[in-house]
Amino acid sequence: MLELFEVSKSYPAQPKEVKVLSKINLRIEPAQTVSIVGPSGSGKTTLLNMMGGLDRPTSGKIKLNQKNMASLKNTELARLRNQHVGFVFQLHYLLAQCTVLENVLLPTLATTQTATEQKQTRKRAMDLLERTQMTQYADSYPGQLSGGQRQRVAVVRALVNRPDILLADEPTGSLDADTAGQLTELLLELNQSESVALVIATHSRRLARKTQRQFNLDHQRLTEL
Ligand SMILES: Nc1ncnc2c1ncn2[C@@H]1O[C@H](COP(=O)(O)OP(=O)(O)O)[C@@H](O)[C@H]1O
Ligand SMILES: [Mg+2]
Repeated sequence: MLELFEVSKSYPAQPKEVKVLSKINLRIEPAQTVSIVGPSGSGKTTLLNMMGGLDRPTSGKIKLNQKNMASLKNTELARLRNQHVGFVFQLHYLLAQCTVLENVLLPTLATTQTATEQKQTRKRAMDLLERTQMTQYADSYPGQLSGGQRQRVAVVRALVNRPDILLADEPTGSLDADTAGQLTELLLELNQSESVALVIATHSRRLARKTQRQFNLDHQRLTEL
């Protein structure tokens, strides 16, 4: 479903470019759970951003559902991303001036919908909010929620378009241990019930142990543990 072939990434910098990833190969199957562990600065965010088409490799190829992302124009890449990839970041990036429900519906605004489709989308959003125990907050604003609740809304927003893969970049990084544990359980539960592949970047080995496959990222290389 998601395939990386010899993916390398460098950033231009003075006096010489910074090489972050070198010839990474990886294949993620539908609904698989994968964790990527590595120290700060090892390239986890860079890798996830490229997997989800937010950034492009310096060399190598990434295929999502058989489509070579390198061959797509930026607008086509954006569409592919919107339809097939969900992102959750360490910071929730919810819009403060929008309600929980409005935030969740944001990714659905990219495509025009008929009145019936809009109704279905709203039902989908409310259903996900219920499954994450957030129904009662649908009309609240992000500022009225706890950190763990905001991350749950971010997860719901990432799933609203029924993506094939959910990329979570240190999703529990700003939460206390208990709340982090709960969010991890929720991600794994949704991976099952939604049949969505899950990739978690983390520096927590404890969290990483809960996924089917675990990789270590260090010195520009990915090694399966
Ligand atoms: N846009 C960028 N421009 C230049 N260097 C970058 C950029 N993004 C990340 N880097 C560098 O790439 C390396 C990996 O960063 P990152 O992917 O954020 O690692 P991690 O998420 O594991 O902490 C770091 O050395 C970082 O400074
Ligand atoms: Mg990072």
